[in-house]
Amino acid sequence: MAEYEYETHEYDVVVVGAGGAGLRATLGMAEQGLRTACVTKVFPTRSHTVAAQGGIAASLANMGPDNWQWHMYDTVKGSDWLGDTDAMEYLAREAPKAVYELEHYGVPFSRTEEGKIYQRPFGGHTTEFGEGPAVQRTCAAADRTGHAILHTLYGQSLKNNAEFYIEYFAIDLIMSDDGICQGVLCWKLDDGTLHLFSSKMVVLATGGYGRAYFSATSAHTCTGDGGGMTARAGLPLQDMEFVQFHPTGIYGAGCLITEGARGEGGYLTNSEGERFMERYAPQYKDLAPRDYVSRCMTMEIREGRGVGANGDHIHLNLNHLPPETLKLRLPGISESARVFAGVNLNKEPIPVLPTVHYNMGGIPTNYWGEVLAPTPDDPDRISPGLMAVGEAGCASVHGANRLGSNSLIDLVVFGRAAAIRAGKIVDPNSPVPSPNQKSVEAALDRFDNARYAKGHMPTAALRLEMQQTMQKDAAVFRANETLAEGKKAMEEVADKWSDVGVTDRSLVWNSDLMETLELANLIPNAVATITGAEARKESRGAHAHEDFPERDDENWRKHSLIWFKGNKASLGYRGVHEQALTSHNDGGIDPKKIAPKKRTF
Ligand code: FUM
Repeated sequence: MAEYEYETHEYDVVVVGAGGAGLRATLGMAEQGLRTACVTKVFPTRSHTVAAQGGIAASLANMGPDNWQWHMYDTVKGSDWLGDTDAMEYLAREAPKAVYELEHYGVPFSRTEEGKIYQRPFGGHTTEFGEGPAVQRTCAAADRTGHAILHTLYGQSLKNNAEFYIEYFAIDLIMSDDGICQGVLCWKLDDGTLHLFSSKMVVLATGGYGRAYFSATSAHTCTGDGGGMTARAGLPLQDMEFVQFHPTGIYGAGCLITEGARGEGGYLTNSEGERFMERYAPQYKDLAPRDYVSRCMTMEIREGRGVGANGDHIHLNLNHLPPETLKLRLPGISESARVFAGVNLNKEPIPVLPTVHYNMGGIPTNYWGEVLAPTPDDPDRISPGLMAVGEAGCASVHGANRLGSNSLIDLVVFGRAAAIRAGKIVDPNSPVPSPNQKSVEAALDRFDNARYAKGHMPTAALRLEMQQTMQKDAAVFRANETLAEGKKAMEEVADKWSDVGVTDRSLVWNSDLMETLELANLIPNAVATITGAEARKESRGAHAHEDFPERDDENWRKHSLIWFKGNKASLGYRGVHEQALTSHNDGGIDPKKIAPKKRTF
C-alpha cells in the first residue's frame, strides 16, 4: 500500500466541479442548510461554462408566442427520439422558473425595449410543434451568457456559506463494498497535500470530455474526470457515441463562434457564394439543428465547394449586419474573430468548420440527478450517495443531439433538481459514514502508480494518439470500416497506458502528473464513445452512419451502456423512458405530438 498522509473533511454534500451545474447544485444545497463543499480543479469562474456564449433556452415568450410544450417538442425532435420523455418534460417545464431565479440572483441579462429579458432565435427552436416559424427562445447576456451566469452563481454560493476547495484535483470516488459512494479523494495542486472528502452525497459536475478529440471548442480542462472516476467505480457510461460537432468553430483554432451569430441574421456560404442551407433545410435554413448543419457543411466540403486555398472550410457571413448590432449583441465573437482568425466582422466572413463541442452521453441519471446502476431487472436502479449533473451526466435530456442553448438550461435545471432531491434524502443530523479504507487505499495506490510511472511513452504522445484517432474515426460521418479501425486503435491506446512515463515525481504544481491523471480519465470516455458508435448500426442525431443512413427505432431506440473492467469495455442497453410526467388531461403534452417520426427541417 502507498504511504501517504491525508486530511479528512466531513460534509453533508461534496460537489466536484464549479461550472454552471456544479455551482447551481452547490448554491441549492447550501441554501437549504446542508453543509456543502465544492471541490474544483480550476478557479470557479474559470470553469468551462464561462465560455458559453449564445444563451439559455426557456419559453418566456418575451419576443412572441411560446410555451413549454413547444420547447419540449423541439427537444424531443432534436434528440431524434432518444431522450427520456420525463426528463425532457422536466427541463422544458422548469426552464422559465430556473431562468427567473437566475435573474433574481443577479444575472445581467440583455434587455428588450420594455426591459424584459432579451431572447434570440437558435437552431431547432420552433413554434406550433415544429409547424410554425423559428422562435426567439434563447435568453442572452450579449454573447457572454455563461460568463454572466457563472459569476452570479459563484457570488451567491459564497453568500450562502458554501465552502470552496479551489485547485483540488479529484483522484477517485470512495465506494463502500456494497456500492455506496462515501466521498472523494483529492490532491491539492498548489502544496501537494492529499484530502479525503467524506460525505453523505457526492455530486459529479465535472463537465464533458471534448479534449478526447484533437479539435474542440472545449477548454483543455474538459477531460471527463467524472466519467473516468465513475467507470473505475464499476458504474456504466451512457450514450457516449453521441458527440456534438458545433457548425461554427473557427477554422484552425477551434474556438467557438456562437450560433447566436446565425440567430442575429448571419448565414453560411460555400465557395460559390451560395447560401447552401436554403437548399438542405428550406424551412429553417441556417437555423436547422446543429447535427444537420454540421453534416451539410461537411457535404459541401466533400463535394468540392469548400472555401480557402484547400477548399476545406466554410464562410460565416455577418458583414451585412449593422455594426451597432454586432457591437451590442455579439461583442465577444467580434473579438474572437479578430484575434483567432484575423477577421474584421464588419468587413469579412469568418472561416469556420464543424468542431467538437458537446457530449450528449455521460453518467446515466434520473431527472433528479441520481446516478443509475442499471441491471437487466431494474434499468432505473439508483446508485446510492452519488449524483451527476450538467455535461458530465446523462439525464437523458438531449438524447442523440442537443439543441443549442439547451445546455445552459440543463445545467441550472438539473443542478437545482439535484439540490431539491438532496434536501429530501440527505439528513443534516445523521453522521457522515466512515469511508471504506480499502477504497481509500486503492485510490492512493493508483495515484502513486501514476506518480512513479516509469514507462517509455510520454503522456502528451499517448494523448495525441488518442485525439487523432477520435478526430479521424469518430467524426461527423462514420462508417463500418473507420469505426472498426478506430475501436481497435483506441483499444491499443488503452493498452499503452501501462507504458506511460511520468518524469516529475514531485507533488507541488506537478502538471506532468495532473495531465497523466486527466489522460487516465479521457481514455475510458474515448473508448466508450467509439465502442458505442461501432456497435450502433443506424443513423440517429449526431451519429451519422454511412452504412446505415436511416434511423432504426425498432432495433435501436435504446440507450447504450458501457462498463469497464480494467481497460476492457463491455456493452449493454436500457430502454428509453417514453412516459411523460404529467398526463395530457392535467395540462401535459399530447402524447401524439411527440410520437416518433422522421426529422425534417
Ligand atoms: O453557439 C453557442 O452559443 C453555443 C451554445 C450551446 O452550446 O448551447
